Amino acid sequence: MNAIEKEIRNLREQLDFHSHQYYVLDDPQISDAEYDRLFRRLLDLETRHPELVTADSPTQRVGGAPLEGFSTVRHNVPMLSLDNAFDDEEMQVFDDRLHRLLPEEKEFEYIVEPKMDGIAVELVYADGIFVQGSTRGDGTQGEDITANLKTIASIPLKLRPTAREIPSRLEVRGEVFYPIAAFRRFNKEREAAGEPVFVNPRNSAAGTLRQLDPRITARRPLDIFIHGIGIVEGINFLQQDELYSALREWGLKTNPLTEVRRGIKSAIAVYYDFLQKRDSLPYEIDGVVFKLNHLELQQRAGIRSRSPRWAIAYKFPAQQETTVIEDIIAQVGRTGAVTPVALLQPVFVGGVEVRRATLHNQDEIDRKDVRVGDTVVVQRAGDVIPEIVKVVPAKRVKSSKKYQLPRHCPACGNSLFRLPDEAVLRCDNSACPAQLRQSIIHFAGKGAMDIEGLGEKLVALLLQENLISSIADLYYLRKEDVARLERMGEKSAENLMAAIEKSRHMPLERFLFALGIRHVGEHVARLIARYFQSLEQITAAGEEELLNIHEVGPQVAASLRHFFEQEKNRALIEKMLAAGLSPVSGEARVQSDEKFSGMTFVFTGALKKFTRKEAEKYVIDRGGRAASSVSKKTDYLVAGPGAGSKLQKARHHGVTVLTEDEFLALLD
Ligand code: IVH
Repeated sequence: MNAIEKEIRNLREQLDFHSHQYYVLDDPQISDAEYDRLFRRLLDLETRHPELVTADSPTQRVGGAPLEGFSTVRHNVPMLSLDNAFDDEEMQVFDDRLHRLLPEEKEFEYIVEPKMDGIAVELVYADGIFVQGSTRGDGTQGEDITANLKTIASIPLKLRPTAREIPSRLEVRGEVFYPIAAFRRFNKEREAAGEPVFVNPRNSAAGTLRQLDPRITARRPLDIFIHGIGIVEGINFLQQDELYSALREWGLKTNPLTEVRRGIKSAIAVYYDFLQKRDSLPYEIDGVVFKLNHLELQQRAGIRSRSPRWAIAYKFPAQQETTVIEDIIAQVGRTGAVTPVALLQPVFVGGVEVRRATLHNQDEIDRKDVRVGDTVVVQRAGDVIPEIVKVVPAKRVKSSKKYQLPRHCPACGNSLFRLPDEAVLRCDNSACPAQLRQSIIHFAGKGAMDIEGLGEKLVALLLQENLISSIADLYYLRKEDVARLERMGEKSAENLMAAIEKSRHMPLERFLFALGIRHVGEHVARLIARYFQSLEQITAAGEEELLNIHEVGPQVAASLRHFFEQEKNRALIEKMLAAGLSPVSGEARVQSDEKFSGMTFVFTGALKKFTRKEAEKYVIDRGGRAASSVSKKTDYLVAGPGAGSKLQKARHHGVTVLTEDEFLALLD
């Protein structure tokens, strides 16, 4: 092999490794810039030596010429669907039925995982190389979407060689999805470009996979979780979780939130965990899937016409309900945008009580002809504000009138205006009390400074009592003053002071987002904070320098400049810094807190001092990884009372087992 071939092989290995770290393990080891540099070098070599290009080269994800249409692919093993359950009783019926079918089992071990609201696909690997991908279609035959699937970074083009031999043919099934944050960005861009927006992440994933031009697919960051297999030649697994470990070792992405539970009651508890977590997940799920963990039992339970008897989907409550609009109010946001909000007769949607829904703007109200007194369909998705989908016309009261937003700001009386290219009305009074209140609420909110206990009511009260008149004043509050407020008291005041204190050392990206600069959302704030590393550098950066940052466009750059040029804003920041506020830059965090770097932790059994999520966060904050199942790559298993199969497995693999107290000691 000559030097060029060697370098190409070496580059491919490095790129495969780093893209697996980034997209599958969510644990990047090098910067994006470094990755790009390696990628460009490989591209350069391959352009000069086209004879050395192979189908599994990382450069082959993007290219692909447009297709005329998709050809048909037959699935060797039919792709089944799942039966649904909607309450605990139906789950019990499912378990009872299995017990009748498999009477010698005392209690079943279930593997429980999120039901992804995405698009089912099959991937085929021949001797470890990704050779074909297809849609589920009717279950027996689907469409060949290989070129589109190749653009998905978490689908390996080549499986990773491990101690476990790679089967000569491996068919896996999984769910392709559009992560929520990326979906929202994508829709925003479409809206800005005057293109129709997608209704939800699922539809946009479907639309993206059906693109005939893979270059379009490549621009949209789809992701995948593998949840099953078709034909696997040469290996027999005993359990579903063992199968998942093997798939992960080969570089395929399975859902890390998967859990194994003994007995249906314990398995159902996981459903309720997910119902709670649902809104904080970065992707949409519409239920939880339960499968018998033992493959031999799956075999013996068998399938009915189109669905297995050994698995079931426990679906979440519907995300749409009907209710009545009691009133419509105009709400002034922190940027002065005036949004109509429908006040609803309270209704449970997807397990959460909903009392308000956004109506966006006057155009939207006109288009849907929404009126006070109307019966409407409301919808919530993820953690976004609930929306009115449509009016139920048959239930309209005759006397109802069309709704018109006021001409004057409901908070300060200023006359409202509308920019020519915008749909929203705005109040441009920079001293508008509603804007101030909203900007403080935003500052203290989740994803921003996260000051616990400082919600809408308390902000309003602090303003009303003249204890604050800006975000900076929060850092000059005195406990005695807060304690004297209505319904506060000594303890609550102490908690608030502690929460404010904690926010002094928030990551820089959070602080930047908290400032509420127009067009600087969480994502953009993160990009900017990572690029500059210090607040001084950001405040001093010119537009040109800002434009250097990937994904930062002229609108964002101008908005940032405008914000930091204003004397009022500079003074505000000065005042906060003078009070000891010191946002922590990304780099400083990494250096001081990397004690668990490269280590994998698994938690099992009951923990007393924190929730599992908190414990996992401690690990992640220190550069480590928190996994859901034990393998030989696990470094520590933290086991509380009630630990079962994971503990056995850890012992089997010689993994160090810690008690909760030992873990605490390690943290310190
Ligand atoms: S297992 C034989 N696991 O739901 C069992 N399916 O309604 C086959 N789905 O077509 C599916 N998340 O595409 C399984 N964790 C998960 C899933 C999942 C989503 C989809 C799957 C299937 C549909 C059935």
